[in-house]
Amino acid sequence: MKKVLRDVHQRPLEDLRISVTDRCNFRCTYCMPLDEYEWLHKSKILSFEEIERLARLFVELGVRRIRLTGGEPLVRQGLTELVARLAAIPGVEDLAMTTNASRLAKLAMPLREAGLRRVTVSVDSVRPETFRRMTQRGDLAPALEGLREAKRVGLTPIKLNAVIEKGVNDGEILELAEFARSEGYELRFIEYMDVGNANRWRSEKLVSKAEILRTVAARYPLRPAGEPRGSRPAADYEYVDGGGKVGVIASVTEPFCGDCTRARLTADGRLVTCLFASTGEDLKTPLREGAADDALRERIAAVWRGRSDRYSEARLVALGSAGGYRPEDHAKIEMISLGG
Ligand code: GTP
Ligand code: 5AD
Ligand code: SF4
Ligand code: SF4
Repeated sequence: MKKVLRDVHQRPLEDLRISVTDRCNFRCTYCMPLDEYEWLHKSKILSFEEIERLARLFVELGVRRIRLTGGEPLVRQGLTELVARLAAIPGVEDLAMTTNASRLAKLAMPLREAGLRRVTVSVDSVRPETFRRMTQRGDLAPALEGLREAKRVGLTPIKLNAVIEKGVNDGEILELAEFARSEGYELRFIEYMDVGNANRWRSEKLVSKAEILRTVAARYPLRPAGEPRGSRPAADYEYVDGGGKVGVIASVTEPFCGDCTRARLTADGRLVTCLFASTGEDLKTPLREGAADDALRERIAAVWRGRSDRYSEARLVALGSAGGYRPEDHAKIEMISLGG
């Protein structure tokens, strides 16, 4: 049997999140850097062949699930071709995508045909004004149309991601829950994280998992969902009345670093382990200089073996300490380069 690759904390490598572009047609306030961000030049972005080759090596090292992210993955031209290439890799048990759905109405069917299994869609509000306020450029109607089309073609189960920000959409928690219940989507509320530096996160913007659950359960009683959580970031609950499932991703108040099996590949070919990292291992240079598969695989394995990051757990300790936690003291890669 193949030996399982483990990091310093004994965590196995099982998931690969591939960012296919750092561009996005939205400018979500909690994600997007302001004007000082320099977009990656095309020449720096991995080609589909390069992504496929690296993905194969990751799968050989233990990855079983692949998720395409961005920026907004569907902004990248011809993405269905990449989906088809990745779907054909033996050993890939799950191939998913996190998207804002704005382009899904047209692309859901070709993506499904190419081998994409499911999508997770960011929807922070079902009110057009709040949706626009949070995404800055996004329109709700096309996103909902994309979502419906994804359901129609069977990119299911569809999960929704809603980042809750104090004073912005925390009054819409029940409305979001009701929308997801009635349409058959699995909603996950997300605690506002200090990912990147551009969003100028402050703990006052946070609405905790406990507060979110209290709001939902006051109207729709909940109980913890039966199945084991595994390495998934969401803590899942089910509605007692049979209305389906709802989850909370509580990276700030209840970090899940101990079960973190995720590696990230940026659009410019850096291997990043933690979402809150400040740097990554450059895989593009050796790849373009003609490194053999063995050498590349060993480079990836060495990064994973040496991995010791547990950022959210350390932050929780700092938040409760006398000195407090100052997000600006930590230089972090921006979310648009990592895709979550
Ligand atoms: P599923 O397997 O479908 O549950 O996927 P997922 O929840 O990993 O995917 P998604 O891209 O929808 O991520 C949801 C949210 O969780 C995003 O806000 C991510 O940034 C966050 N997230 C995912 N992985 C991690 C992680 O390793 N650490 C932290 N802190 N947040 C994460
Ligand atoms: N805090 C929490 N979630 C975030 N996302 C992006 N930025 C943040 C943040 N600061 C989420 C988006 C998207 C997913 C990839 O990451 O909602 O669904
Ligand atoms: Fe774009 Fe997603 Fe970031 Fe919003 S959260 S700006 S949709 S990449
Ligand atoms: Fe993994 Fe880093 Fe997230 Fe912790 S904070 S779960 S180590 S990505």
